[in-house]
Amino acid sequence: MRIPGFYKLPVGERLQEIARRFDLSEADLAVLQRGDGFDVTCADKMVENCVGVFGLPVGLGLNFVVNGTEYAVPMVVEEPSVVAAVSNMARVVRAAGGFEADADPSVMIGQVQVLDVPDPEAAEARVLDHEVALLNQANASHPNLCQRGGGAVGLEVRRFGAPHPMLVVHVLLDCVDAMGANMVNTVAEQLAPTIEEITGGRVNLRILSNLADRRLARARCRIPFGLLGGKGWDGEEVAHAIVEAWAFAAVDPYRAATHNKGVMNGIDAAAIATGNDWRGIEAGAHAYAARDGRYTSLTRWWVEDGALCGSIELPMAVGTVGGSTRVHLTLQVLRRILRVHSARELAGILAAVGLSQNLGALRALATEGIQRGHMSLHARSVAMAAGTPPERVNDIAARMVALGQIREDVARKLLAQG
Ligand code: MEV
Repeated sequence: MRIPGFYKLPVGERLQEIARRFDLSEADLAVLQRGDGFDVTCADKMVENCVGVFGLPVGLGLNFVVNGTEYAVPMVVEEPSVVAAVSNMARVVRAAGGFEADADPSVMIGQVQVLDVPDPEAAEARVLDHEVALLNQANASHPNLCQRGGGAVGLEVRRFGAPHPMLVVHVLLDCVDAMGANMVNTVAEQLAPTIEEITGGRVNLRILSNLADRRLARARCRIPFGLLGGKGWDGEEVAHAIVEAWAFAAVDPYRAATHNKGVMNGIDAAAIATGNDWRGIEAGAHAYAARDGRYTSLTRWWVEDGALCGSIELPMAVGTVGGSTRVHLTLQVLRRILRVHSARELAGILAAVGLSQNLGALRALATEGIQRGHMSLHARSVAMAAGTPPERVNDIAARMVALGQIREDVARKLLAQG
């Protein structure tokens, strides 16, 4: 969604703007402003030894068009440049027609580890012979999921030899609009005794896999060279420099880790803002990035017919139902801003956010470097930390940037100067 000049507005006016656009009430705005949509009484029901709640900024990733639909993407993140960078790149991609995205059905993998199996090969065959019965048993415990079009959809057996011989049974469960961790773990636990009987082995672990590679999300964009230039940079040169930067991550795991960290800056921020398990998404992303035995880039960038083209593919185990949304008022307001209707739609948006974030990082790194942009945003935090009143933060930050000295003592000196 495009909201021109949004970043220049004072925060109060920004809130009025989103109230108008997303039909938010004064009570919704109060939840966002105070950050208390989730108080210690709710928090106390979620973790042991709860002693409080913790605040982080919520920014809106703007300018997103994904599959022709406009989105404002809520992002919870403490790193200053993330929201600005993702929004800038989404604006460029928007001018080129926006992102295309898609996601697989929400199929999660539940793993059952079977040890001491007398004849693993025969046991594998027997498990597969019992596939229908095992899937029926799994579905019997989740009638609601089946009614919503999901449920157990397949079974796989994997055999491992010495030094750690074991059979691993995968049960594949379509969780529809849920992330599904609880459902998958329940199914894995329920099937375990039957699997022991069939294999003659002993079950140890029964748990989902975060390498959710049956639940991949993808996004793509194509940006004509003309849209990539500016600030003295030629668009075609920028495109080639971005491809070179991507190639660095493609060949070198040391660079790929940082490159993918940048991708996850956006995905995690939006995952948190939608109440999803970002640690699970992180684990899945990095495992997927190493799927061919060598850790590499989650994105791909190339040049074709006068345009820079980009794509991303990664596991995206996210839900739009369940989780902490029901008790967390801020999450409820943010969901109304994002306006997604299914887990698959959300997965596609998160993939587009990751691709946009990566483009922002590569474009900055391959041109002026990231420190200039980072520093001007960082200067605002430093100005605030130095006790600058909110109405003077931008001014003090700009003066520190101009001086090339972004430090609290400098902010205090400038403040004293008036
Ligand atoms: C910083 O949080 C993320 C970057 O390092 C990503 C990258 O290097 O691609 C800028």
